[in-house]
Amino acid sequence: MEKKIAVLPGDGIGPEVTAQAIKALDAVAKSAGHKFEYENALVGASAIDAVGDPFPAETQAVCESADAILFGAIGHPKYDNDPTAKVRPEQGLLRMRKVLGLFCNIRPVTCYKVLEDASPLKAEIVGGTDFVVFRELTGGIYFGQPRGRSEDGSIAFDSMVYSKEEIIRVSRLAFEAARRRGNRVTLVDKANVLASSRLWRETVGELAKEEYPDVELECMFVDNAAMQLIQNPKGFDVVLTGNMFGDIITDEASVITGSLGLLPSASVGSKVGLYEPIHGSYPQGAGLDIANPCATILSAAMLLETSFGLTAEANAIRKAVEISLEEGYVTKDINAERFYGTEAVGDYIAKKVEELVSAEA
Ligand code: IPM
Ligand code: MN
Repeated sequence: MEKKIAVLPGDGIGPEVTAQAIKALDAVAKSAGHKFEYENALVGASAIDAVGDPFPAETQAVCESADAILFGAIGHPKYDNDPTAKVRPEQGLLRMRKVLGLFCNIRPVTCYKVLEDASPLKAEIVGGTDFVVFRELTGGIYFGQPRGRSEDGSIAFDSMVYSKEEIIRVSRLAFEAARRRGNRVTLVDKANVLASSRLWRETVGELAKEEYPDVELECMFVDNAAMQLIQNPKGFDVVLTGNMFGDIITDEASVITGSLGLLPSASVGSKVGLYEPIHGSYPQGAGLDIANPCATILSAAMLLETSFGLTAEANAIRKAVEISLEEGYVTKDINAERFYGTEAVGDYIAKKVEELVSAEA
């Protein structure tokens, strides 16, 4: 097949990790006979520096005309330490999600057998973990109005707003995924305090009863979920939650797998999907060839499967990453004594992908 992929490397380690994912995609293209064409575009702090806008119109056009989007990371410390900055890199990411209609963020959390000891949690707790978080991505407190400051500046406010429609569309995707997996959805909310959470419970409960009676639904308060996630991660199958809770619990969940550098994500909703690692731009690591490329490479696997329907090729990438972990071909975050650079790990995985896909063809 012939496909066009928009590549948005972004800031910090973004360009290095997206480059490794492209190697894996090229390996797939070469050995399976596909043609992937890449078009680069600016986003984040690098876009602010170049054109004064973290998500320029030109980038939007590149995204809208692509079959899928591969995204690195955004963020720069010069904005983190300046609360008065009017234009921030993060605004680019949020606008991109909103404008492209990417209302559902999918973050799988799997603990690889060889990494059971890499987690600060006990191996018997993390071993066998396999769940996926469905995070609502274009609503809630990230976007709700009103937000801002009182006139004298002494009060600031954000609003957590959700409509039934926003809840239903992301929930449907979570229930469909549950049917393909362990058939269980855990709704994470704060319905004992928040009105918006009570709407989630009511709406998701109705949807489950009417359309997914075969899927088991459990509801859990977010504080309890934060605890359960690291006490008994095997107890989860599909986690469904709002924007901010999803942001927080997925960073927490990354601890289970041993490194934040291993978790991929897909953002879907409209016709073009966006694929990115869940980690940030790690500016301290930029240009040092130390960043773990696996999260982005695994995001490329999600891209192939979700946007192009290339499941076998996606699985070859996943297998190649697993082999690299088993063979100890890993970056410093995974093994601080014996490690390789970002490029070397990327090359190793791409070579394995080529072997695996060729063997299958
Ligand atoms: C993420 C990030 C973003 C978020 C930031 C950079 C705006 O933390 O994708 O999880 O909070 O959604
Ligand atoms: Mn986050």
